[in-house]
Formats: sequence, structure tokens, C-alpha cells
Amino acid sequence: YVIGIDLGTSAVKLLLVNMNGKVIQEISKEYPLMQEKAGYSEQNPEDWVEQTIAGLTELTDSFPGDVSDIEGISFSGQMHGLVLLDENHDAIRPAILWNDTRTTKECQEITEQVGREKLLHISKNIALEGFTLPKIIWVKKYEPENYSKAKLFLLPKDYLRFRLTGRLHMDYSDAAGTLLLDIEKRSWSDEICTALDIDPELCPPLVPSHEMVGNIDEIIAEKTGLSEKISVFAGGADNACGAIGAGILEEGRTMASIGTSGVVLSYEDAGNKSFAGKVHYLNHAAPDAFYTMGVTLAAGYSLSWFKNTFAKEMTFDDLLQEAADVPVGANGLLFTPYIAGERTPHVDASIRGSFIGMDSSHKRKHFTRAVMEGITFSLNESLEIFRENGKSVDTVISIGGGAKSTMWLQMQADIFNTTVIKPGSEQGPGMGAAMLAAYGSGWFETLPECASVFLKDAQTVEPIRENVEKYKELFTLYKSVYA
Ligand code: XUL
Repeated sequence: YVIGIDLGTSAVKLLLVNMNGKVIQEISKEYPLMQEKAGYSEQNPEDWVEQTIAGLTELTDSFPGDVSDIEGISFSGQMHGLVLLDENHDAIRPAILWNDTRTTKECQEITEQVGREKLLHISKNIALEGFTLPKIIWVKKYEPENYSKAKLFLLPKDYLRFRLTGRLHMDYSDAAGTLLLDIEKRSWSDEICTALDIDPELCPPLVPSHEMVGNIDEIIAEKTGLSEKISVFAGGADNACGAIGAGILEEGRTMASIGTSGVVLSYEDAGNKSFAGKVHYLNHAAPDAFYTMGVTLAAGYSLSWFKNTFAKEMTFDDLLQEAADVPVGANGLLFTPYIAGERTPHVDASIRGSFIGMDSSHKRKHFTRAVMEGITFSLNESLEIFRENGKSVDTVISIGGGAKSTMWLQMQADIFNTTVIKPGSEQGPGMGAAMLAAYGSGWFETLPECASVFLKDAQTVEPIRENVEKYKELFTLYKSVYA
């Protein structure tokens, strides 16, 4: 057996998986989010540790066999969150999370001081509020006392792993989201550190995601009932692990995930391309690989906003069922999902959403369909950037809420103009983490070999020509709305 631990924003999810990739047990433990001021989003790292220990204890308590049969553990984690450690490796302040937006000014400063071109050349990305480096600069500026105590920084799952093993590391896929990593060379960038007067000693040792980095600490083993012999593997960023769990392990594989936010992500075998910062370009958690990623901030969030505001009494299933007979294009109603600003492609926190083309024939069901189409158009803008940069996208693996509805799967196939595959059992990033542990433990020669045993396709949806043509026209219209 292996355990995949996904340290999310609202909860830590633990998956116990056997050698066939079957999930034997699933445990989830929640923790709070602290939003002290508008735009602030923090968490207490101690909560992650406590809840993970509680989850692991529950898991070993109900484990049917001998716990020494659990061979490996690995991690997936919410990206970008800043955990600052002092000389005793204690957390200095609460973690500042990926969805904290206080650092707009610091992003501008980074871009000016490093230089936009140099930043893009080294980190392959532009400075965004969510990334870690702007948070480090913020603490340096507004909390000099905390900053002067800082000896090292970690990301959330690296801190959790440190507390379980006593070993300090960060893996490439998560380090890529700090803005301090030279993506192509896979090393910390002295140039970026120097330009911003950051001590490079703050940056932890780097490792690949499948690397064995230690064993379970004696005290933790005692508390949780786990064996001290279990190998602990580094793990990766949640998006990278989600991609592994969806089988995005070779060129030509692309994933669309519609959750609260929406992500389209595509495998890249080289780290020397340029997407000019239009999409994120990061190291994969699969060895020597990379991925590009576009993000729609309010994907499922747009639909839940709509439901909570106009159809509170209905279930999502009923809402979507009601819209099932609405034709492509929602009878001329168009929605742009910018209700929380937008990331890809416009990087615009101040833009707001819209319904356009309303007339008196429109009923609630037209609005529902328009919202779903608008979300899918937004994801298609990221796919378009992939395609403009020479990537052929003909198959998309659909996961998350967007994969639960056949109507939405068909809509994705028609708007993306690709075959859409829904995976058999979808466990997301936790499964990717379990696969890293299985591969690291030597169960398989390669991750794709692990994927061939662990992952199964359930449903394949082909685009309908007539709809593809209609959506092409509507997509042109959709894109013109932003300007
Ligand atoms: C990616 C991002 C989010 C977090 C969520 O850039 O900010 O997807 O990783 O956990």
C-alpha cells in the first residue's frame, strides 16, 4: 500500500491505495482559513500538521492488515503558500496562501527591479499576486522583524513533510511556483535573489518529486501508528499531482479541470520554450517534464454564484437538467465569467463579468447554459494559446465538477473541438501523490507504467460537427467582449 496526502486549502485528504491503484480508504480533515482583511488569506501551519496526524491515526486504526505493509507516503499541496521558518525551524507567522491578493504593488516592484524580460527568461512566468516571491517581499517590507528572524522558507506540503520527517526539502514542481526558480536549469536563481536583495540561503534544498527524502519521525510514528520504516517521497504541487492523477504524462495530453476555479494544463517535454507569460509554464512532478497551465478564476464558482443567487432551492443536477434542452448558444445569451477578475489570458483583477444579449424570451435555463458556455469559452482561450504556440490539442481529459455532467462534457468537446475523456475513478491530486509514492517505491519502472495500471478511462465524448461550427462563431464574439 501507499498513502497519498493532498494538503488542500480547505482540507487535507488522505488516500490509501493498493498495488492495483484501488482506493482502499479515503479520509478528509478540514481546517479554517483566516481572512483578517479584504484580500488576505492565511492558515496556521500547525492546523495542517494536527489534522494530518489525526487523519493518519484514523487511517491506521481502521487499516485491515499489518501497517508495515504500507510502503510509502507522498504529498500533493496547495501551491505558492509562504511558510517562513526561524533558526529553530519554527514557523514565524501564519502561512500566506496562494489566494491572498495583498501583493499587487510587490508584483510591480519585482517586475521593475528584476526586469520583465529577465523574469520571464528565468522563471518563465510573470509576477502574480498568488506566487510566493511577492509574499516574501511583502513580509520584508511590512514585517521587518519577522523577516529578520527568517532562515528558510517552505511551501505548505514541504512544511508538513518536514514535520513528519524532520527533513527540509522542496520539490521542483512546487519550487516552480515561487518565481525564484530557474525553470529550465532546475536551480534557484541567484540573479533574481540578488536583484531583490533576498538571501539565497532562505531557499531550501531542491529534489525531484519521486525522490525518497526520509522516513517517518519516531514520535510521529508512535502518534499515528505508522511504521518508522515507511519511505517518504517529496511529492509535488497540487496541479502537477492532479495532472499525474489524470494521466497527463506525455506530449499531446491535456487536462481541463472545472472546480471552483478552472484549469487547463498540458504536458511539455521541454523547459526552453516561451509562452511570453501568457500561460503559466512550470516544472512537472513527473521526472524531467514541464507543463503549461491557464487558469479561469471563477469557473465552477460562477455557476455556484448563479445557483445561490437565482436558484437557491435547486440542486446542481436539477439546474443542469432544466437547461438540457436549451440549444447551443443559449438563444443569443452570452456570459463572461469575470465575476472575481480574470487570470488567463487577461491577468486583470479589476475586470467584471457580464450577461450580454438578453431578451424577453430568455428563461432561467438559458442563463444556466450561458454561464456554462462562458466558463468553457474562458478555458478555451487558454487552449487557444497552447495551440497558437504550436501545441496540437486533440484529446482533453476532463476532471472536477465539469466532468460530472454529460451535457458539460459534450459542451467541452464541442467548444474545445477535441475528444473529451472522463477518467474512471477520479481522485485528483491525492492519486497523483499516491502514484509518486508507488513509482518511488519501485513498484513501476516509469510513471506512465503506473498510470496504465492505476488509471482507467470511463467515458469518451466526441465533438458534434454542427455544434463545433456554431461555437467557433460564438467564441469570436465571446473574445471581443473583454475589450
Ligand atoms: C495555481 C494556484 C492554485 C493552487 C490551489 O497557480 O494558485 O491552483 O495551487 O491549491
